[in-house]
Amino acid sequence: MSQRMQSAVRYFFLLFFSLSSLLAHVAVAQQNSQSHPWMNTQLSPDERASQVIKQMTLDEKIQLLHGTGMVGLSPMSPLAIHSNGGAGYVPGIPRLGIPALQMSDAAYGVRVSGENGRYSTALPSDVAGAATWDLEGAYAYGALIGRELRAQGYNMGLGGGVNLTREPRNGRTFEYMGEDPILAGKMVAAAINGLQAQHVIGDIKHYALNDQESGRNAVNVNINKRAARESDLLAFEIGVQESNVGAVMCSYNRVNGDYACENKYLLTDLLKNDWKFNGFVLTDWGGAHSTEKASAAGLDHEQPGWIFYGEEMKKAVLAGKVPKAQLDDHVHRILRTMFATGIVDHPVQKSVVDVEGGLDIARRLEEQAIVLLKNDHQQLPLDAAKLRSIAVIGPHADVGMISGGGSAQVDPPVGNAILPPGKGQTRWLEPIWFPTSPLKSIRAKAAGATVEFDSGADPEKAASLAKRADVAIVFAYQWESEDMDLPTLSLPENQDSLISKVAAANPHTVVVLETGGPVTMPWAGQVSAILEAWFAGSKGSDAVANVVFGDVNPSAKLPLTFPLSDADLPHPQIVKPPRTSMPDNTKPEVWKQIAAGLPPFQLTYDEGVKVGYKWYDAENKPVLFPFGHGLSYTTYAYSDLKIESGKTPRVSFTLKNAGDRTGAEVAEVYASLPAAASEPPKRLVGWSKVKLNPGESKEVTLEIEPKYLSIFNVEQNGWQLIPGEYTFMVGGSSQSLPLKQTARIE
Ligand code: BGC
Repeated sequence: MSQRMQSAVRYFFLLFFSLSSLLAHVAVAQQNSQSHPWMNTQLSPDERASQVIKQMTLDEKIQLLHGTGMVGLSPMSPLAIHSNGGAGYVPGIPRLGIPALQMSDAAYGVRVSGENGRYSTALPSDVAGAATWDLEGAYAYGALIGRELRAQGYNMGLGGGVNLTREPRNGRTFEYMGEDPILAGKMVAAAINGLQAQHVIGDIKHYALNDQESGRNAVNVNINKRAARESDLLAFEIGVQESNVGAVMCSYNRVNGDYACENKYLLTDLLKNDWKFNGFVLTDWGGAHSTEKASAAGLDHEQPGWIFYGEEMKKAVLAGKVPKAQLDDHVHRILRTMFATGIVDHPVQKSVVDVEGGLDIARRLEEQAIVLLKNDHQQLPLDAAKLRSIAVIGPHADVGMISGGGSAQVDPPVGNAILPPGKGQTRWLEPIWFPTSPLKSIRAKAAGATVEFDSGADPEKAASLAKRADVAIVFAYQWESEDMDLPTLSLPENQDSLISKVAAANPHTVVVLETGGPVTMPWAGQVSAILEAWFAGSKGSDAVANVVFGDVNPSAKLPLTFPLSDADLPHPQIVKPPRTSMPDNTKPEVWKQIAAGLPPFQLTYDEGVKVGYKWYDAENKPVLFPFGHGLSYTTYAYSDLKIESGKTPRVSFTLKNAGDRTGAEVAEVYASLPAAASEPPKRLVGWSKVKLNPGESKEVTLEIEPKYLSIFNVEQNGWQLIPGEYTFMVGGSSQSLPLKQTARIE
């Protein structure tokens, strides 16, 4: 057969198969739309859900209200065998075309990928994402996770952590978006939008005020309503309202007396009624404590098992203790979310993860997330051509960079970088180092220089290496994980003394921090440059090297304050649970004890709305590095502030790149409210990330959402703009605000 003939035949078969598969699809769709009218995509998600509910038996309804178990946290159902290996599994209802829910933790990438023989990109930690202050970047962050979830066979991701950094020693600070409710809320919404655009259900967690890990299953958080609405709850409000998120995970703790997962004020009054959330509320794993009370309060779904929402729910429904309409509302919310996010119309199909594409995104996001905290005498960027020797110092900086632990943990493809290959399966509360080697990345940049490594285990030895080198780069870390809080903001493992000794030996000392949040730096005055690289993800070391050697101009800003000491925090000591409030982990069925409710202990957030910079401002406490701070290799000039007051005030100003490098500046807008509002001195009300060539100027205009200028009026149960004089301040950090103007707003 001639080549032309061959290709004609091939073309014919291709056409034939495509046509017949198209016809088969049409036939199935026709059949579906006759027997399953809810498969008609022209109908709204609510109509579709209502139609399905009419066909469901009581058992089928109950089946959607809970998971199939997790070892150690609940009983196990034989159905769990069909789980895809993630944290949660809810069987589908094939006769009605309703898919199973396959849920995986996915804070900075898909969890337990290695254990399941799969692969996932580790993005820089969520707090690093927040440090970009880039909504498009946050969208890309969520989209990548959504794609990798689908590729692995999941249709629901459990990321979306947005608890405020009220307590920076919280072991999950790296999983959240910093201390400001507006920044955190907008960033989490953008990430969820990116994720859900991949036809994956997203969730926002842990609702609410789960701001420390210590005693999380027992603690009762006391906070007044106004402070809560203007701080932690505002982050959730913005996150929910700007994203159409499919699910909200209620947290382990109690809030003002009731467990969050049976707290009517949180779940129904606020989330479902005020904020018009039409997705479903699921518990944190083992966060349910009742059937009737929780159901009436607005809890829709229990995970990971069915202590309260299985047999117990059925009995309660049959006895009329849980009204049928309430049961149907729970089911409706789950089904409507499935239709709205497209997981019914676009069933998950496993596929190969785009490894290279993922690594590229991870590197670019990290480059945008690295904060240049200090840069005396333009120590950075380093000029590789002029350096003869570089000392790379710090624990494991030859092989890897640290990552965040707990249920957020993404496991590296070849295991923990500090263990022999294949020996590094992730284990609870064990730090995992990602195989992204600072030493290798620096060597690749400075091919003409001698680059030597010292772990810093012996600070004297490290200092003597530093002394011989043109420049010393110290990689310092502070590991964080769920299920623990940090005892202090100080660096562990004697690293403060290591850095001091190296800095004393070499005046050109650069410190790169791998931390999930702020740390104290008694040596800050001794070193010439400091970079905050966070938990840097799969491509962390290349991103750091690109910033250190100037291929990338840093543009990130701190989403949280670095205080001078633990003593300056609103609570100098973390409030720890008494022994009586701790579960007995030696018991195999400890989950029963947790479900029954542990005796509460009290934690009072008397700093109220004064979270992060609002606290330091109000208390006149100096800080090490302020919220919103971050340097660049160029400089920016701010001028010509204009305020147009009105219902939605407009703030405009001119921003100029006054240096000789292209860069992107996060221009921040803060407001002081009239004295009658009784608020902390200022709050962030908007920002814009602006890219500028050397010498270029741009006029920036921001419309300020009236809610961001309001207070929460408890009596009126609503946001209230207090008429009066508002001062707007604009600049590159919460403590560098060169433009200032007052306007009257009615
Ligand atoms: C965590 C959640 C997580 C869940 C499932 C809990 O321990 O608090 O964030 O989604 O486990 O793994």
